[in-house]
Amino acid sequence: MSYDCNIDIAAYANAIGTTYETLPEVSKKVLANIKTGYRLLSIEERDAHIMAILKRLEEPQISRSTEENLAIFERGWSENLALCRTQGVSLDSLRPKYVKPNSIMRFAGKFIVPENPFLFDDLCTATLNSLFTRYFTDAAAVYEFGCGTGRYLYMLGNLLPRRKLVGLDWTKASGEILKVIAEQTGLPIEGARFDMLSPGDSVKVDPGSAIYTVGAMEQIGTRFQAFLTYLLESRPAIVVHHEPILELYGEPTLYDYLAAFYHRKRNYLNGYLPALQGLERERKIEILEVRRGGYGDPFNEGSSIIVWRPL
Ligand SMILES: C[S@@+](CC[C@H](N)C(=O)[O-])C[C@H]1O[C@@H](n2cnc3c(N)ncnc32)[C@H](O)[C@@H]1O
Repeated sequence: MSYDCNIDIAAYANAIGTTYETLPEVSKKVLANIKTGYRLLSIEERDAHIMAILKRLEEPQISRSTEENLAIFERGWSENLALCRTQGVSLDSLRPKYVKPNSIMRFAGKFIVPENPFLFDDLCTATLNSLFTRYFTDAAAVYEFGCGTGRYLYMLGNLLPRRKLVGLDWTKASGEILKVIAEQTGLPIEGARFDMLSPGDSVKVDPGSAIYTVGAMEQIGTRFQAFLTYLLESRPAIVVHHEPILELYGEPTLYDYLAAFYHRKRNYLNGYLPALQGLERERKIEILEVRRGGYGDPFNEGSSIIVWRPL
């Protein structure tokens, strides 16, 4: 079957709540260099996909304990560490193994069959380039919490050179990868171990820095309060999140209901946006952007955006 539809740059900008004119050139360049063709599913394919989601929701391993989660990430990042040492640091060796080719993905309210099986990941790259350009150009230091392999710090270091980059993660392997990136590329990247569930005071953020998370706060579910307090006390200039946000699904539709159901079963981030909105009402923070990313993997949308700053 042919890919008779296309996510052109204007359609993508619309899906992430911006416009062609305001989308930075770097994101337009990412989109111009990837295949963005797609086709809609037949009724039979859509039924089969919904059934696959329902079956996935029934799997016992859909939710994990904190200990299982840590062990899984430690193992995964150790594999990337070995790859970086043997093949050299690149966006390929830093790509997490859970980034799998998708035969079906979510885009603008529909399940679609993408021509490019890594379209979801590529759209995330375009969005992050856009956010980095918009919000981090003036930052002397940028911190990523739950940075994993550091692939987005590596991307950021090449996009906006000459600023301090710090990656924090609760795994040991993540910090080892950051050291290898710094050694091989000369980028000013450093790392430290940090648990968002129990931040402590060993990691101090330079005041006025930029902070971001990508698919990391999703992992702490409803247990975000200690980390939110830490963020507020760190007095950053700006905080950017690219995460699945439960409250942005419009649950009356089947399409959104399935994503929200999956999100809850995975114990993903829940209640964070209302907590930020409460802080805004108390005039403790200003929320600059809240938008649903509008695209996702076959199961949910890890592409929503929240940008805020302490007052
Ligand atoms: C889905 S991965 C995303 C990694 C990276 N941000 C990216 O997008 O490639 C989630 C990351 O959060 C980290 N993580 C999960 N729970 C954490 C916690 N309590 N404290 C710190 N890091 C955590 C994991 O080790 C992993 O690196």
